[in-house]
Amino acid sequence: MKTKIQTMDLLVPDLERYSLKKEAHHLPSWTLTDRQICDLELLMNGGFAPLNGFMKQNDYNSVLEDMRLNDGSLWPIPITLDMSEEFTDKVISVDKITLRDKEGFALAVLTISDIWQPDLEKEAQAVYGTKDATHPAVNYLYNISNKIYVGGSLEGISLPHHYDYQNDRHSPAELKNIFTEKGWDKIVAFQTRNPLHRAHVEMTIRATEDLNANLLIHPVVGITKPGDVDHYTRVRCYQHVLKKYPDNTAMMSLLPLAMRMGGPRETLWHALIRKNYGCTHLVVGRDHAGPGNDKDGNPFYGPYDAQELLMEHQDEIRIKMVPFKFMVYLPKEDRYQAIDDVPDGIKYQTISGSELRHLLDMGKGIPEWFTYPEVALELEASRPPLNERGFTIFFTGLSGSGKSTLANGLLVKLLEEGSRPVTLLDGDIVRTQLSSELGFSKEHRSLNIQRIGFVASEITKNGGIAICAPIAPYEADRRSNRERIAPLGGYIEIHVNTSLEKCEERDVKGLYELARKGVIKEFTGISDPYEVPENAEIVVNSSGTPPEELVDQIYIRIREMGYIKS
Ligand code: PPS
Repeated sequence: MKTKIQTMDLLVPDLERYSLKKEAHHLPSWTLTDRQICDLELLMNGGFAPLNGFMKQNDYNSVLEDMRLNDGSLWPIPITLDMSEEFTDKVISVDKITLRDKEGFALAVLTISDIWQPDLEKEAQAVYGTKDATHPAVNYLYNISNKIYVGGSLEGISLPHHYDYQNDRHSPAELKNIFTEKGWDKIVAFQTRNPLHRAHVEMTIRATEDLNANLLIHPVVGITKPGDVDHYTRVRCYQHVLKKYPDNTAMMSLLPLAMRMGGPRETLWHALIRKNYGCTHLVVGRDHAGPGNDKDGNPFYGPYDAQELLMEHQDEIRIKMVPFKFMVYLPKEDRYQAIDDVPDGIKYQTISGSELRHLLDMGKGIPEWFTYPEVALELEASRPPLNERGFTIFFTGLSGSGKSTLANGLLVKLLEEGSRPVTLLDGDIVRTQLSSELGFSKEHRSLNIQRIGFVASEITKNGGIAICAPIAPYEADRRSNRERIAPLGGYIEIHVNTSLEKCEERDVKGLYELARKGVIKEFTGISDPYEVPENAEIVVNSSGTPPEELVDQIYIRIREMGYIKS
């Protein structure tokens, strides 16, 4: 009989589950954010062992200062439950709360031990080594995270439900059992948030052969770096790539981790997690889990900081680091070789992530020496050429600046061109159809722009063209729309830079006069600010040039950017 391997998990035994669920229905409820659901799953399934809940304040402080829990165990990343002040005010004298997913299913009960207000800048500096919000985890702390942390132990009712790739998801206990069944005792984990190509396969086959080990492709499918290839596409690519390994040497399991892109500290965390999943080795490359460059264009971490930190701690974690050898293609010999071993003067080829994206954007095809045709087809389908992809054109400018006229003119030109469906979300249309209950306070304007952003993002994602033309006076709202929409296709901001004097002189609707008299309050440009866009792709001024000419100029510019076939 096979013995089932047990690992520490936080799910209550089956017999107690019913009563815990009943109790959960009478407790105050918190709906978990996307990141919290990922963290909760790994807490509950034992992937984050030895943690037994969301961090308490003493563990949190100790992690920030020493990368260790209060009891001395190595743990580099805070796993905290951030909640709103409004909610924590309500539960200040309550012992337990229910944690639910977005559909309202009770996943766990948290017994509260600490509620505190963290110093988020201190956390950013201690954990990520920077206060620069260009770092995705720092941005998360400043702009997305709730401001109060709640710590406590967990009693798990149910793991979060996944409808996708159920057969490729495993808890640590399940994965360890699979390894035992396969007779694998040395397992090299390959952490990834990107599609895999020939170079990765060459590298991992050689590494596992050298160690006489097996390979676990362990991709992150929770949250990765904004702008990454979506996990559905990646999993299809991994499935193709898996077939390239010799039989019974490699398998894939999907990891519901929410990455922080925390470089060296994150690398230690990856190693601890892989240890919990039964792996003996972890491949770590150059700048592992690095977030790219800071606001001044310098890398956040040194290229080998992550490897060095893991080297220091690998014995304590009881996992061995396998340094990633960067493989390049030698065209003359039609084979791959580790870059360090390429003799001087021998020509080699490689394609970076941004070069790959450029090839896809231009519809140029991916060379077969670089990846397998099946993988190339998946990537081409997920990132069509610019001139086949959905995109949003976002006009912004003062009332009367000419946005609607230009938007309508462009609508007609794009309908004539006919490659994609086009939707016009003019300010007035939106105010009637989507935002009729909203006024012009800062809050209402933001909500209005968010709604436009949501509709435009859906249109863009599904391959259409959205033309938006609200005033959108605030930079923060425009930026969040750009961040939401750009990764789904394309995003072009057009600032209609007609001066206030000109708009007021036109006063098409007579509103400026009323605003000057104070009859209309909070009027943009008169009694409410218009923050001039800093990153608009196109700037036009409607005074002095006929609208047809401006529409032509905009259309040509969009074509030059590659969104329309020449
Ligand atoms: S916003 O700020 O982006 O939400 O505004 P938007 O939805 O584009 O609506 C702007 C139109 O509403 C009329 N209007 C006002 N504009 C600015 N400020 C105040 N207080 C205001 N009150 C009414 C105005 O006609 C705008 O239309 P356009 O087409 O821009 O001239």
